[in-house]
Formats: sequence, C-alpha cells, structure tokens
Amino acid sequence: MEKSRTNPVGLLDKAVAVANSMHRDELLFSYKGILYPTTVCSPENFKAFESFEARKDDVILAGYPKSGTNWLSQILTDLIAISQKKTPGSESSVNAEEPEEETYFEIGDAGKYERMTKLPSPRFMVTHLRPENLPKSIFKTNAKILLLIRNPKDVATSYYHFSNALALLPSYETWDDFFTDFMTKKMAWGSYFEYLSEWNKYADKENIMTITYEEVKENPALSVKNIATFFGIPLTEEQLQLVVERSSFQSMKKNSDKTHGSFGNIFFRKGGVSDWKNLFTEDQNEKMDRAFEEHIAGTKLGKKLKYDLYCKA
Ligand code: A3P
Repeated sequence: MEKSRTNPVGLLDKAVAVANSMHRDELLFSYKGILYPTTVCSPENFKAFESFEARKDDVILAGYPKSGTNWLSQILTDLIAISQKKTPGSESSVNAEEPEEETYFEIGDAGKYERMTKLPSPRFMVTHLRPENLPKSIFKTNAKILLLIRNPKDVATSYYHFSNALALLPSYETWDDFFTDFMTKKMAWGSYFEYLSEWNKYADKENIMTITYEEVKENPALSVKNIATFFGIPLTEEQLQLVVERSSFQSMKKNSDKTHGSFGNIFFRKGGVSDWKNLFTEDQNEKMDRAFEEHIAGTKLGKKLKYDLYCKA
C-alpha cells in the first residue's frame, strides 16, 4: 500500500468496528459545547494537546469536514515532498524511519502529541477544529495555516452522504432530518456557520491563507502555485503539473484503494460543485440563504465564498 501521511486506514478500520457495536446516541460526545466522533476523538486528546508546542515551520491545513481536506492534503503532502527534493508519489517521498502519525490533529490516541515532538520538520497537520479550540501555541508561533472553505450547500450535501456511508457518524433516514441537524448545530465538529464566523476573526492575519474548494476546482494550477508561494516552496513547471495531475479527482479516486483502502469511494464521492441542487427543497434553500445572510454574508470569508454564484438556484 502506498504510504499515506493522511489516512491511516487501520485507524479507520478499527473505529468502524467499534462504531458498529455502538448505539447511534453514543457515536458523538460533547466537549466544550461541540460534538465530536467518540471512536476517533476523546476528551483526553483535547486536554493532552492544550500544551502542544507548535513550530513556526509546521504546515497546517484547516477545513470543516467535507470541504475537501483530503484533496488539499494531497496537494500539500506533494509540495512538502518537493520542498525536500523528493519526487511526489515515489517511495522516497516518505521517510521510512519517520514514525507515521494520523495527520488529522485531533484524531488518534492522546499519546500522539508527545510522539509528535519527535517528528522532523516540517510537520504536516490537518484539522477540522475551530481556532479557539486549537492549541494557543499555533497562533503564538505564527505557523502558516491554509484555511479551506467550501460553499455551505455542497458541504451539507457531502456531509449527508458521508454520514450515511461511514459508521463513525450517526446516519439519517432522510435528508430532511439531516438538514435540520445541520442547521441546529448537531453535527460532529459543530455548526459550519459558527466555524466560518470564528475563523473569520483570523482571516486578515498574514500567516493565514484562505482558499475555496470552488477556486481550486476552477483553476487547480493557479491554486497550487499560490499555495506553494504562500509556503515558500519554489516549483518548476514540471513539478507544478505533476502536483496538479496527482491531485485531480480522477487520479485520487483511482489511487484511493492504495491511500484509503475500502473507504476510497466514501471519501471520493462526486468531487464537483452544485450537487446540492439534487437535495435542497425550496424551503431549505430559503432557510440556508437566510442563515448565511444573517451570520456570514457580510464577512471576509462570506464574500470569498461567492454565495450568489455557487448557492443560488
Ligand atoms: P463530495 O462528497 O461532494 O463528492 P473531505 O476530504 O474534507 O472529507 O471532503 C470530501 C469532499 O471533497 C467530497 O465531496 C470529495 O469527493 C471531494 N474531493 C476529494 N478529493 C477531491 C479532488 N481531488 N477534487 C475535487 N473534489 C475532491
């Protein structure tokens, strides 16, 4: 199996086995008012990473679930390999002696934060957490953060299918039930609108670059170039093309049995824009449009999302 720094399949396999023996109500737990999946996160993790020491050269990807974090992980992992003079995708692109850790920061066992102190730089981490729940040192060191956002209707649509496909999350009999929970903060990792509001407080910081799912989709080469520039990674035209090619939806889906095992089809579903049109009713459109207008529309992140373009019928 190609070594993946992003999705240790074993961890997911184990979590699914545990989740299968649990009651639906037990699948999520609440920590400081936000829900998380019981099988892969724990209150012990949250306590253990409070004292986590970030490094200035940590590479951090922040994104709410289903905003395309596996996609951008692939791009960043390849860019890091290039910065280390390795060829993306080759065996040598991952240091065989490097202890592998689940890259999703809040996922795994509580001991991982201690083990992470021994990882060589640059460490790569992905997180679905809101900024106020991340370790303080991340903001003190000014480590660079790529903040990925996606239009909320496609996030909800993707999250609905994901919840019904992955045993770790409560499944839903109907889309309507899911929509109600999505709008009333009952999702794992909390409300997407609150997520956007909280991250918006950081959107002007120099060490944070915001990118949308839709802009990467529209112009992958320019997006990869901009991300590489932000992290200070020089790229030849050939390297740029390689990163773009390896991160296309088709390539990632094709390669997913190696990177994500049997979960490939769950993580790489449609990979497009506007699938929400297949699910949202008129009433649901109105509800989400109103919530967006009330909470996000006037903010920097709200404008970046181009809501009228991507979320109006
Ligand atoms: P859909 O369910 O709309 O297909 P995450 O990685 O944060 O869980 O996000 C998953 C979403 O990103 C899924 O959306 C998935 O198909 C999409 N995705 C994954 N890889 C992609 C790629 N290379 N290009 C475009 N979309 C991708």
